[in-house]
Amino acid sequence: MGSIQDRIPSTAAASAVRPSHERSRAGQAAPVPSRANANSMADETTPLIRNCWYVAALSADLAPGKLFARRLLDVNVVLYRTENGIAALHDRCAHRSMPLSDGYIQDDKVVCGYHGFRYGTEGICDHVPSQPERCPGGISVRSFPVVEHSPHVWIWMGDPGLADPAQIPGAAWMRDSDEWTGSHGYMHVKSNYVFLHENLLDLSHLSYLHAKTFGTPDYASAPFDIQTGDGEFIVQRTVAPTRLPPVYAEPTGMTGVDAARIVTSTYVSPALSYTELLLRNLELPQEQRRDFHLKTAQIITPESDGTLHYHFTVVRDFALHDQAMSEFILKSIKAAFHEDVYALERITQVRLGEPVFHERSVAADRAGVAMRKHLKKLADHENPPTQPV
Ligand code: FES
Ligand SMILES: [Fe+2]
Repeated sequence: MGSIQDRIPSTAAASAVRPSHERSRAGQAAPVPSRANANSMADETTPLIRNCWYVAALSADLAPGKLFARRLLDVNVVLYRTENGIAALHDRCAHRSMPLSDGYIQDDKVVCGYHGFRYGTEGICDHVPSQPERCPGGISVRSFPVVEHSPHVWIWMGDPGLADPAQIPGAAWMRDSDEWTGSHGYMHVKSNYVFLHENLLDLSHLSYLHAKTFGTPDYASAPFDIQTGDGEFIVQRTVAPTRLPPVYAEPTGMTGVDAARIVTSTYVSPALSYTELLLRNLELPQEQRRDFHLKTAQIITPESDGTLHYHFTVVRDFALHDQAMSEFILKSIKAAFHEDVYALERITQVRLGEPVFHERSVAADRAGVAMRKHLKKLADHENPPTQPV
């Protein structure tokens, strides 16, 4: 499965969680979390985790000279390009709450569209038109650390003193290169972000939710391996021999042949999960076999506790210069992801309608349950219970 340490950055918050390495395989008995620990798992009632780098936007979203507004972690934010980088400010004028994104950019500063207060990239107001001689001191809006790692723009919404750009996940394959090519998609989802992470760690749903897109009947019962510990959650599922769905069979020339389909799902942080897919033609002689790889960065940014921004970057290591194939794969993946969005939004409706309910878990949920406990610990670490006085 490769080195987990190489792939998963440890955040300041993650280091607060003690490791507990575990493994399980399909068919083996596994402790089934249920009522006793339900409250120890993150859900839509758990505070959002702020000390983490999240993707605020795609680089392409930020056009020069334009203000880009987006709600992130229950805060309205305005982002814009400056001469030397990108600025991110609270999108709420300190004067009378006008969204700064309704204003305009002037010399790397934002001018409010209501009474003209002007803010620099640090959020400090340096000009009030009604008092042109001397700007009143102490007027400011919050600014946020922001770093562009094309094709993504990352933002830190937590304690500014903990914002370390070295902690930004830096998978080189997310960018077009001589080895990888791909494309990006975005969806707005009416669900808490925890449930999308959990969805990505239990792909047994492919046989059912994705039966008409990229699932196959044998997927749900295929053997899997789970690895958890210290903020690391990895599930590897091997489906072989199997027949590939068209989205993978057509681009690889494996229509109607016995193939191996090995998927590794890796939780990286509250903001990110990777899905890595290996495809192999089992009907070819050993010496003629080649592996095809597709990787998806599942980029998850809570908008609120009940909605999220879902960016995804899908790359492959074959047909690198085939734009039509990029479009075919992206279209197919999007169709499948719409099914996930449908399920997550249905789950959300039911959970909100009947908030008191004890869900049951099975062995395939072990990574998801461990991940949700980890998220709960991170949230508790940021929001310690108040002590009675
Ligand atoms: S609300 Fe922005 S200047 Fe008055
Ligand atoms: Fe799915």
